[in-house]
Amino acid sequence: MRQPLIAGNWKMNGTKASVERLLADVVAGAGAIQRSEVAVCPPYPFLQMAAQALAGSSVRLGAQNLSTEASGAFTGEVAGPMLAEFGCKYVIVGHSERRAMYGEDDALVAKKLAAAHAAGLTAILCVGETLEERERGDMEKVVGGQIDAIIQISGIGAFDVLEVAYEPVWAIGTGKTATPAQAQEVHAFIRNRLAGHSAPIAAKTRILYGGSMKASNALELLSQPDIDGGLIGGAALVAADFLAIAKAGDTAAQ
Ligand code: 13P
Repeated sequence: MRQPLIAGNWKMNGTKASVERLLADVVAGAGAIQRSEVAVCPPYPFLQMAAQALAGSSVRLGAQNLSTEASGAFTGEVAGPMLAEFGCKYVIVGHSERRAMYGEDDALVAKKLAAAHAAGLTAILCVGETLEERERGDMEKVVGGQIDAIIQISGIGAFDVLEVAYEPVWAIGTGKTATPAQAQEVHAFIRNRLAGHSAPIAAKTRILYGGSMKASNALELLSQPDIDGGLIGGAALVAADFLAIAKAGDTAAQ
């Protein structure tokens, strides 16, 4: 049984005051979460504050991106070892916003996965198709291609040390969620793809769903056999909503 991972991707949101409040509320509510692992991924400047607020709680810390490099003359970049030192367990890699807006391709994503692993971080590798690609009937080609590229560059072993998040681009921030059946189909497709290389890795890899997941649809999504958690954007900015999703994870894992 894979433990559900409910991770909040706060994206580029928050002020010192709002982040302080959100952290305190998540920590206060997390005591009631029994089976799900809960993590939050604030913007870089809030990591220190978050690490302090989460200390002693069960809530894990993650970052939203990292450099391919460990240190040096890379202005504006943030290195994996820095994230590790500031208490991060997780780091999101290859989010569709970074692929689309910052030109991150599979080769760069593979390098970031390696950098995360070298720093002792667990990457959350995001994959997903756009609406146009889905409508063209290319979902499997795109998502399979994103998975295959990592296997080709880094080997199946890369999946032994990461989490996957399936985030259909058309469902991110749009209010349009993949139906549980639609999501399950892709999650099973990803797991089969991994199983073609290693059955044990396929069986243990957590595959999270992301894209307009909220309290009202979380239980149905998380109850699917191959959906092992959620990567939550908008709803993660409201503690009660985020905690309700973690509760749904608890229920689904019963
Ligand atoms: P929303 O939950 O806001 O759709 O965002 C999903 C996402 O991109 C998480 O990484």
